[in-house]
Amino acid sequence: MEKRLIGPFRQIIPMTHLPGKGPVADEQLPIIVEGGVVVEDGKIAAIDTWEKLSSFPGISREIVSGDKVLMPGLIDAHTHICYAGSRVNDYAMRVAGKSYLEIAAAGGGIWTSVSHTRAADKDHLLEETRIRARRLLADGITTVEVKSGYGLSVADELKMLEVIAAVGEMEKIDTISTCLAAHIKPKDFAGDESAYLHMILADLLPKIQARNLTRRVDIFIEETAFPVAAAEPFLREAQRMGFEITIHADQFSTGASELGVKLGARSLDHLEASGEREIAMIGSSSCVAVVLPGASLGLGMPFAPARKLLDAGACLAIASDWNPGSAPMGDLLMQAAVMGAAEKLSVAETLAGITTRAAMALGLPDRGVLQPGKIADMIAFPARDYRDVMYFQGKMKPVMVWKNGRNVLSEK
Ligand code: NIG
Ligand code: FE
Repeated sequence: MEKRLIGPFRQIIPMTHLPGKGPVADEQLPIIVEGGVVVEDGKIAAIDTWEKLSSFPGISREIVSGDKVLMPGLIDAHTHICYAGSRVNDYAMRVAGKSYLEIAAAGGGIWTSVSHTRAADKDHLLEETRIRARRLLADGITTVEVKSGYGLSVADELKMLEVIAAVGEMEKIDTISTCLAAHIKPKDFAGDESAYLHMILADLLPKIQARNLTRRVDIFIEETAFPVAAAEPFLREAQRMGFEITIHADQFSTGASELGVKLGARSLDHLEASGEREIAMIGSSSCVAVVLPGASLGLGMPFAPARKLLDAGACLAIASDWNPGSAPMGDLLMQAAVMGAAEKLSVAETLAGITTRAAMALGLPDRGVLQPGKIADMIAFPARDYRDVMYFQGKMKPVMVWKNGRNVLSEK
């Protein structure tokens, strides 16, 4: 494929040379003023000032008009966008005073989405998920993690994982799938939590490996889901089989993050209930802390202690948790900006949380920064100053999106 020079951009924020963990000041962000990017075979071949790059002969040009700020495509490292049906009834019950856990204990909540998702045929589920994936791409998300977890039987979990893979094939967004069969114990399973987790290990995970459907396993550790004691042998065995683990940890109560640190989980997600002890442990670990402001906004609950996690040394990623129950909004940029204001995150920390550090949460060293050799996933905002992206609290969306160097969204 031919080389193409894209630009000029008023500012390029490549997100390079930043610390992998802990606080980041805006002054640490490299900025290329009046910059350009050379793209070849879907990757970045060069990134520099427009003046330098445009002096090379024989490169075709894609001219960008008006003031634009360019940055890496956003990465949403935690979603549940593969689902059918609505949970608007849960929402109405919550605003009338019932809690998320009470609704779950009464048999609603996640189980409602399981019923709808099981009843949906594969084509319907595919169509619903594709629509959500296209919305994410239009919002500048070029890689999205998507969990199963509304199937909860071998056949329905495989159906979900196949749909998630198909969405990545059919849409111009990369999907990274995760098996969340350990979301809750399904009502129709005869046996206790440990027996259900054993069934996942014995029957489901080998099929997932045989079909190469995912290398990631997640579990929801909570009193209404799975206790720490049952989760530990499950996660150890999943790791032994070769899966990378990630945990829905400390959403309402503690215990899970400590286990995750002990096992060396790739990421610990939620952390709204984490206290000083957990924060210190996570901060000195190699686990990525993935906070989910969309779940706090959806449930009307406090944000996870993002500032404290960074100050304790954590690698902080921010994801939308888009799901039909606790986080139906699905607007990563808006949620990250709103949490950034509440938690006093620098613009650099918030941006890192949805680009480079989100890539770390998914173990993807090929993206999240704009640098020669990396995938050319890039987004441009109609701004002169990169800080506008957070200043406008997510209302200003990217007007141009490139996936693998191809322009998939242009200004009208
Ligand atoms: O991350 N906490 C558990 N799982 C999801 C919610 C799923 C649902 O309510 O459907 C979450 O918030
Ligand atoms: Fe979640």
